[in-house]
Parts: sequence; C-alpha cells; structure tokens
Amino acid sequence: MDFKEHIVQKIIDITDLDREVVENAIETPPDEKMGDLAFPCFPLAKVMRKAPPLIAQELAEKLADDEIIDKAQATGGYLNFFLNREKVISSTINAVENSGSDWGKSDLGNGKTVLVEYSSPNIAKPFHIGHLFSTAVGNSLAKIYKHLGYNVKSLNHLGDWGTQFGKLICAYKKWGDREVIEKDPINELLKIYVKFHEEAEIHPELEDEARGYFKKLEDGDEETTALWTYFRDISLVEFKRVYDMLGVEFDSYNGEAFYSDKMDEVVDILKDKGLLTESDGAQVVDLSELNIPPCIILKSDGATIYATRDIAAALYRHRTYDFYKNIYVVGIPQSLHFKQIFSVMKRAGWDWAEGCEHVGFGLVKLPGKNMSTRHGDVVFLEDVLNESIEKTKEIIKNNGSNIDDIDDASKKIGIGAILYTFLKNSREKDIIFSWDTMLDFEGESAPYCQYGYARGRSILRKADGIDFKNADFSKAVSDETYSLVKHLGAFGDAVKDAADKNEPFYINRYVTTLTKLFNKFYNTNPIMRDDVDEETRKARLAIVDAVTTVIKTALNLLGIDTVESM
Ligand code: ARG
Repeated sequence: MDFKEHIVQKIIDITDLDREVVENAIETPPDEKMGDLAFPCFPLAKVMRKAPPLIAQELAEKLADDEIIDKAQATGGYLNFFLNREKVISSTINAVENSGSDWGKSDLGNGKTVLVEYSSPNIAKPFHIGHLFSTAVGNSLAKIYKHLGYNVKSLNHLGDWGTQFGKLICAYKKWGDREVIEKDPINELLKIYVKFHEEAEIHPELEDEARGYFKKLEDGDEETTALWTYFRDISLVEFKRVYDMLGVEFDSYNGEAFYSDKMDEVVDILKDKGLLTESDGAQVVDLSELNIPPCIILKSDGATIYATRDIAAALYRHRTYDFYKNIYVVGIPQSLHFKQIFSVMKRAGWDWAEGCEHVGFGLVKLPGKNMSTRHGDVVFLEDVLNESIEKTKEIIKNNGSNIDDIDDASKKIGIGAILYTFLKNSREKDIIFSWDTMLDFEGESAPYCQYGYARGRSILRKADGIDFKNADFSKAVSDETYSLVKHLGAFGDAVKDAADKNEPFYINRYVTTLTKLFNKFYNTNPIMRDDVDEETRKARLAIVDAVTTVIKTALNLLGIDTVESM
C-alpha cells in the first residue's frame, strides 16, 4: 500500500489543492520522532491569508484519523503524520514477500532503450584501474536501469584502432616473438610497444614506418590485418578473464575499429552542413561560440581520429538502437572530448544527441608499494582482484568460520569489496584504495553487508520448518522494527535516485543503512530465543526473510554477490 498516496488524497479532500502541489510538498521529517511524513503549510499562507501554524492547526482538526493515520499533529507550520505502525509493517513485509527480487522495480523505462557504454579498455595495453572504475559504475548502472524497466544494452567500446597500432605492428615485426607473447600477451605487447618509443627517439624514421603500417591496416592489407586481429583476440581473452571474475557481460564489443568504415559518411555530413573549416591543414568544427577548442575531424594527413570514430559510433547507435539515453561511463579527464563531440552532433542538427551523456568518474589512488604486482610498475587489474581474494581468504580463516566452499566465498567477498569501494561515494570523487577499509568486516564495506545477509540466512535456516507466511505483526511492533521496515519501503526511491543522477552510490548507501538497521533489529528483537512466543517469532522471521531478499537485490544492483554463510 502506498502510504504517501493515502495522505496526499486526505489532504486534497480537505484543501482542494492540486494533486501535484501536494505530492511535491510532502516530505519525510528529518527526525523520526516528528512523524513519518510531513506536509509543510508555508506555501498555503498567501492563498489562505493565514499564518502557517494556524493553517496546520486547522487542517489537523479537520482530518479524521483512520486505520492508517494514527495521528495528525500540527507542529509549527508543519502538519505531521504518524502512521499506524502495525499497518505499515504488515503491508510492507507482505508486499516484499510477494515481489521477491522484483522489489523496487518499476515500469518507468518501458519501451525505452538505454545504452550504457563502459569499461572500454585498449587492446594490447593493460586493463588498468580506471577501466575497473568504469566497469564497476557501468555494470551497476546497467542493472539499475534494467530494474526500472528500461531495455538496456551494455556496450564495450574497445580501443582497437588508431595510429598506435601501426607502431605496435612495426614493433612486432622487429622484435616480436609469438611464443613469448603467448605466455603473457598484454605484458609482452606492452614491452615491445614501449621499446618502439625508446627506439624511435634515436631513429625517428621508425615513425614513418609505423605510419606506413597503419595505412596498410586502414587499406585492409592482409598481413597487417591478420596481426591486428591476433592482437585483438589475445587481448580479449585476457579482458574476458577479468570480466568473468567480475561477472560482467556485454551485448557488444564493437570497438573503434568497427567504425573505421563509417566515418566517411560523418565527414560528408559535416561538410554538407558547412560545419568543417580548415585549421593548419586539418578539418575541424569550430566551437569557439561555446568557448571550447575546435573538434578535429580529419588530421592534416587526412587520417580520422578518436573524435570522428566516436561521432560515427553515436550515429550508428542511434540508427541501431533508437536510444532514449546513450551513456558513456568514462573518466573525467575526457570531459572536454565528450563536450566537443556532443556539441558537433547537436550542431549537425541531430536532436537525438540530447540523449547522449558523459558520466564521469574520479581518479584512483593506489596504496603505492603495498600493491603487489608481477609486472613492475604497471598495476594489473587481475593481480589486484586476486590479492583481494587472497586477503579475504586469510581473514575468513582467522575468523575461524567454517564455510563449506571457502574459495567461492573469498571470491565473492574479495571482489565485492572492490566493487563496493568504487560505488561508495559520488563517482566524481577520487578514491584512495585501502585494503583495511575495503575488507573491514565491521565498517562500511561489502563484507559488512554480505555478513548481514549471511546472518539473516542462518537465522532462517535455524527456523527451517516454521511457516511464517501470513504472520500476525501486532506483537512485533518496536522502534527498531519500524525503522527497519520503513527503510525496506524506501528501496524503490533509492533505485530511482540512482538512475536519475547516474549514481550507484544511492544503492550503496541504501544497502549499508539497511544492514545497519537489520543488525540493530536482531540484536534487540530476539527471534529464536526460547522465551519468544510463536506469533512474534513468525512475524520476526517474516521480517528477516524480507530483509535478506532486499539486501541481496540491492547488492546485486551493485554487481555484488551474496554468500549463504560467512
Ligand atoms: N579506450 C578509451 C580509454 O581507455 C576509453 C573509451 C571511451 N569511450 C568512448 N566512446 N570514447 O581511454
């Protein structure tokens, strides 16, 4: 039952105000003691020519209590509502039980497609921590939009095209050894790529050679294409290992190369619309009106670049998916790039460009030397994930818990801990990676929430055989129970807020608070203790069941798995 809606209707009945006005005005008081919902009477003062406290007083008198509203009380200019706690508890718990993992879902997105582009690493280069940040945020956003009923496509815009591949091919032909590469592909490819740059300092003619190779690649030359395909394939094998560990999947791996034959059309369109001007031999779209540097479309040698490929990609996505939103989860350092391409697209008259949005995120600071790596200076993501899993295993062992499958649990907790860290605060904030915070089972962390879930599941296992459906909640009403259940009811709003702002931290905060409230609840409201009567026990078990369902659903929206015991 929608309690807010019930109150909105009551107020409309006695005031003749517009529904929208009332709906927008109603708020949740900062302190629970002040009631469950409040209607501020200040905006009415002008129309009614009365002081707000007087209006609140009059409304309170007019309002007859009913089975849902226990009390309507005027405090200052506010009309505060106290709901019937038992009603709220029973109706919420029953609703959660009926929806299961669908709790918090909506049909807001029906018929609309949202594209979430994320991760997008560069082939033949390490998958770095920034790509992991993008992966964590993007994967979570994709799930959040799905929960709201949108048709979601996850896109991985691989960095698999550009002049650097001419260099890599050149380096490979000079120093590459397939057998060595096969053993540790990305690291070896990176090595020869770095060597190319060192050598080119001394022998600048190497740069021309590399340009020649990229030209060959662009022209579809068989040998260079085969090499490029090989680099791409072995890189993808590496990336997919990481995605498997994280449980991340994509609907498309169309990278920059996919758009290499779709750029001529973009250049033609921009030319036809008279948007291209020459600047130092390059073709650019002037954006001085917006006070930003011009967007380069064709370099002076006629080669297309990153921006051109992105514009071609956006056009392709519009035609293929007819998207409502096209979200790019990419680091803040690329903000200008996105501002430029979106502006070009808008100037081309593509109104769908309004649906394109850059969702940026901050930097990640690693704990320097504490991060072990097989690869010298470069931090490989797989190493970070494995380190987290190993550390988790140690903690679990030291805690003396007897989990059946410690490997599986350590993986879910260790990886969950990392994902949680990326989704903890507003994404634009920088992150300082700290193992202690991340793996603090008692602090704000994934393990903390996972532990709360496992605790709930263990209670339910102990109660095996007790049928708690249709429980009677009359004896289970307490402050802790009420706060906990009210928070269960707020899940849908958290999901909507997260999508509205493209900020998974709303879910993160939600589930952390839910777990805290749950801890308080089971520490103060005994469940399986002998002195608890049967009806109260059933009611509390039903609450535990609902809470575990919602903790799991919320964690899953963050891409985090749960474990049944810890
Ligand atoms: N591959 C790029 C990088 O690693 C990110 C790509 C971002 N997406 C885009 N459509 N430009 O920096």
